Amino acid sequence: MKGGYFYERRTKQLSLFFIGVVFTTIVVWSWEKTPLLTTLLPSHSQVMQLFPAVEVKVKQGTQSKDDFREAEVVPNVTYPVSSINAPSILGEEGLVDLISPSTSSPINTPSLDIHGGESSSTSQENHHESTTNIIEKPFSSEVSEKSTNPISNPPKQQLLEPVSSEVETEDNVAPMANVETQACNFGKGKWVIDNNRPLYSGFGCKQWLSGMWACRLTQRTDFGYEKLKWQPKDCKMDDFNALQFLKRMQHKTLAFIGDSLGRQQFQSLMCILTGGEERYDVEDVGKKYGLVKARGSVRPDGWAYRFRPTNTTILYYWSASLCDLDPIDPGNRSTFFAMHLDRPPAFLKRFISGFHVLVLNTGHHWNRGKVNANKWVMYVNGTRVTNRRLLNIESAKNLTVYSIVRWVDGELGKYPGLKAFFRSISPRHFFNGDWNTGGTCDKTTPGKLEVLQEVSSDLLASGAVKGTNVKLLDVTALSEVREEGHISRYSIKATPGMQDCLHWCLPGIPDTWNELLFAQI
Ligand SMILES: *[C@@H]1O[C@H](CO)[C@@H](O)[C@H](O)[C@H]1NC(C)=O
Ligand SMILES: *[C@@H]1O[C@H](CO)[C@@H](O)[C@H](O)[C@H]1NC(C)=O
Ligand SMILES: *[C@@H]1O[C@H](CO)[C@@H](O)[C@H](O)[C@H]1NC(C)=O
Ligand SMILES: *[C@@H]1O[C@H](CO)[C@@H](O)[C@H](O)[C@H]1NC(C)=O
Ligand SMILES: *[C@@H]1O[C@H](CO)[C@@H](O)[C@H](O)[C@H]1NC(C)=O
Repeated sequence: MKGGYFYERRTKQLSLFFIGVVFTTIVVWSWEKTPLLTTLLPSHSQVMQLFPAVEVKVKQGTQSKDDFREAEVVPNVTYPVSSINAPSILGEEGLVDLISPSTSSPINTPSLDIHGGESSSTSQENHHESTTNIIEKPFSSEVSEKSTNPISNPPKQQLLEPVSSEVETEDNVAPMANVETQACNFGKGKWVIDNNRPLYSGFGCKQWLSGMWACRLTQRTDFGYEKLKWQPKDCKMDDFNALQFLKRMQHKTLAFIGDSLGRQQFQSLMCILTGGEERYDVEDVGKKYGLVKARGSVRPDGWAYRFRPTNTTILYYWSASLCDLDPIDPGNRSTFFAMHLDRPPAFLKRFISGFHVLVLNTGHHWNRGKVNANKWVMYVNGTRVTNRRLLNIESAKNLTVYSIVRWVDGELGKYPGLKAFFRSISPRHFFNGDWNTGGTCDKTTPGKLEVLQEVSSDLLASGAVKGTNVKLLDVTALSEVREEGHISRYSIKATPGMQDCLHWCLPGIPDTWNELLFAQI
């Protein structure tokens, strides 16, 4: 009987135990299930819900736009207007004329610029660039470096397998990358709905996000584009983790150098890292890099911020052409600039030894209109280009991209702690015209969600980095399918009828570029 009693008691205990386990499981499961349902399972059906047009298009291809609008399930979130610091923020910076890559738009005269202040002008970027060198002048070291030390033969680098070089460069620095990621083609994959997006609010991040790119501050009402997350096909990509990023970048400096699309990526990164919250432990260290607003200029040539807790510096320097610009007649305010196609920007040359991650880009300024408006005169080997073939803009761009990549590749040998990326071109989406002839990008849904091609759509950038240790940050194809993510007609100061189908809304597509970057450093 004793045995029976024990047996019975045991059974009871076991039953109770199992009931407990089952009950706990159910509780935990159902507790998790609700968020799971909305965040982890959304895949296809939810994507279609958010972007009904995609499905419709696939099935019929003829649905009218209004139908898409009606079917739109994106919640129409309204925020108190008072939270939008309307006039000051909106008026802070005008629409930059980068939307005018093929421009022949007039450039402001310097005297006009002096009094232009923060006000908008369609040639702001041109102005900005034409003051670049004037601002640089105080740095005598830079000037003399420029004139006495033209880009010398970069040390030839042995062509290494990317993986082995990866290992090699990491010998003497904190491990930054996961060697495994080298095999991954981050550019291939698909966009999926993620209700945890965006990574920061477009109403926030006022410390770093330009009002002109914060589409939440505009009349735009569709925000489905904020909810998509890029999922590479053949590899795992961790979600962006700000703490991890800063830890990885402890005592390190990340520099973006490029045009306004590079500036968008910079602002995006600052917003992601801070979650769009105001931060008092991030200090402006622009001065250290000479990035101060010169008298009479609209803004400095760049910005640099240091996250004090981890001593991480993130900076951006404006170099639209990614080559060195040198005033031909420094004493003359309306001087032309020698555009040294085969020399790196002086800023890069001067500070590269202090960088640990470098992200370069160029592209949208390589057209006759921009070159003329900026008063750029092409130089190679220190002499003015007369070769007709090279005077062709595409050839000049090709020469510059190859030159800068080769130069940086040579520097990598000197600075093993440095990782360099060349970001591929950010696509424009002007339909039915160009930036100045009524081109539009009105869609509120992505073109498609998947990118399956193996090779980059940017042949120039991918060709230039081939065989070097400079990595391609390939954002072209994945951005190409996101035509709905541009500023479009919501430009704050756009001339009626003119749309910005070049820059992106933030939060938005450039956030993904930073996630790809995070995955590779
Ligand atoms: C969103 O709300 C605003 C203000 O209430 C309204 O004007 C607009 O038409 C709404 N948009 C949609 C797509 O429902
Ligand atoms: C902070 O980081 C920079 C690189 O970004 C480094 O040069 C400097 O030595 C670091 N400072 C300290 C106190 O570690
Ligand atoms: C300054 O440069 C412009 C061309 O950019 C030229 O037309 C003008 O004559 C120059 N002025 C002087 C004083 O050299
Ligand atoms: C620049 O000069 C080098 C030799 O000094 C020559 O090999 C090269 O072809 C020149 N490049 C151009 C574009 O003229
Ligand atoms: C670009 O430059 C590279 C290196 O000089 C050259 O191999 C390539 O043929 C050029 N491509 C074009 C399209 O000019």
